[in-house]
Amino acid sequence: MISEHMIKAHLKHEKLNIKIFDVIDSTNSEAKRTALSHGAQCSFEPTLLIAKAQTLGRGRMGRRFVSDLGGIYMSLVYVTENPLSDAVSITTAAAAVVAEAIESVVGAPMKIKWVNDIYNDRGKVAGILAETVSVGECTAVIVGIGINTGASDFPEEIQSIASSIGELDGKEVLLIAKIADGLLSCAQNPRDRSYMTAYRERFMLAGKTVDLIIGGERMGSGRVVGVDDNGGLLLLPDGQNETVTIQSGEVSVRETK
Ligand code: BTN
Repeated sequence: MISEHMIKAHLKHEKLNIKIFDVIDSTNSEAKRTALSHGAQCSFEPTLLIAKAQTLGRGRMGRRFVSDLGGIYMSLVYVTENPLSDAVSITTAAAAVVAEAIESVVGAPMKIKWVNDIYNDRGKVAGILAETVSVGECTAVIVGIGINTGASDFPEEIQSIASSIGELDGKEVLLIAKIADGLLSCAQNPRDRSYMTAYRERFMLAGKTVDLIIGGERMGSGRVVGVDDNGGLLLLPDGQNETVTIQSGEVSVRETK
């Protein structure tokens, strides 16, 4: 069972509204509605929206995110005074926060696939969708996180990549609170890049040969050199000797024969 009171019992940050739904279309969409409902006011307390299931869960690149019962679906929405804080940094910070929080609650190591997919040793266990919305003169940031905690009976289209961190037996509230605290700390210190240490320690693509996919199209391939401080992917394109920085898109790892 998840209740506002139980989450607050674990939270370090005091200013956080919490709303819990049994079922909703998408906590990110609800976060957007929440931000827009404040009109031109430009200020509202950070709000955490949590659902037990989503009917229209959204993933990156316009994909659907399977959101049946047996997962944690949550979105944090807050107003930023730093509208230039780019989506890649927010998303990179969130990946580090989520990976560390899962590790500390579950006790199993997590890895990060650029830009923000969280993997255990069997497959992808969590995804992150960061979005922004203009509210009056301000910008609200929405960080949506989906974590698989149920049985691993995924629909066919994601069976080969999806995995689960397993049942949490009451520790969901602790995990949610740790993630919310981590995200709020990053939001309060937008120039602090110390989370990059945790990100790089778990980064699973270093040295791998990958295909770069932008807008659904393969744009080329290369060897991953690392990640810069803003979360950009450092890639050495095939046949070239200068590294380029990729700010958006996704990569798929080339199987080595
Ligand atoms: C991805 O892996 O492509 C990102 C998935 C993000 C899913 C979460 S679940 C909570 C929030 N609400 C949504 O509709 N999406 C995010």
